[in-house]
Amino acid sequence: MTDRYAVVGNPVAHSRSPSIHARFARQTGQDIEYGRLLAPLDGFVEAVERFRDAGGRGLNVTLPFKLEAFAWAARRSPRAQAAGAVNTLRFDADGAFGDNTDGAGLVRDIEARLGLPLAGRSVLVLGAGGATRGVLGPLLEAGAARVTIANRTAARAVALVDQFVMSAPAQATAAGAPPGPGAPLRERLRGCGFDGIGGGFDLVVNATSAGLAGERLPIDDAVLAGAALAYDMFYSARETAFVAQSLAAGCPRACDGLGMLVEQAAESFLVWRGVRPLTAPVYEALRAELAAEAG
Ligand code: ATR
Repeated sequence: MTDRYAVVGNPVAHSRSPSIHARFARQTGQDIEYGRLLAPLDGFVEAVERFRDAGGRGLNVTLPFKLEAFAWAARRSPRAQAAGAVNTLRFDADGAFGDNTDGAGLVRDIEARLGLPLAGRSVLVLGAGGATRGVLGPLLEAGAARVTIANRTAARAVALVDQFVMSAPAQATAAGAPPGPGAPLRERLRGCGFDGIGGGFDLVVNATSAGLAGERLPIDDAVLAGAALAYDMFYSARETAFVAQSLAAGCPRACDGLGMLVEQAAESFLVWRGVRPLTAPVYEALRAELAAEAG
């Protein structure tokens, strides 16, 4: 029997997830069907329960429902717990399992497709909203030596760091280790405003929504020029504002978040089906699809 999955969100019509999962299913020979589920803004739980009761096996959750999905899930993975948000639901016999594959998707895209190992690196993340919280744990787990979170509203970055450090498992904050991947979390994480960024970053990740309005971020060119890679968590058929800003500033390499989208989807597919699809051909196909649409 064909197993049913979907992406639930509002809006959801633009989502590329059905196209990605259809390709994964064909490639792996899995008998699944993957659609779109538009939930009313005040009707997330009802929509999910109706989908589950009709035989649905799992859902991807997108904006604005990731926090509600977290609250609704009966069980959560440690990475969902750290993110405080759920983007993947699997309906098990003993209740709904909530996971978060966003950060793993980012790390995998950077390390595997772009070839930049994160161990020992100094990372700057711009923004302090849900997108940032979702990727902090996986960046640290991948071994980033330092992660600086810079936000327009500095207090929000500082609060995010405090909250993350407070809620981290005890062993991750064990004192006595030298600076680096094994050091106390408090020494590896820093929150600040755009005016307190400093320098010396290997990687700069944009997790703000500034690009949606085409806005430039008030970051010194030298910060971007000194990084090996600038990564925009958002993607677009055309060059994103942050990719354009980074390249103009002299950063040798900049890319958008299409690869992250494909990788988080692959990780969800693994959670549901126990099989990890190959992502490179799907990324290439999607990039070509986007380019064709842009004309
Ligand atoms: P998400 O869950 O997608 O991260 P969010 O919680 O609304 O969304 O967070 C949006 C992030 O983008 C915030 O860090 C926000 O900065 P503030 O906390 O100061 O609001 C940031 N952001 C949005 N528009 C921005 C802009 N024009 N310039 C800089 N940062 C911006």
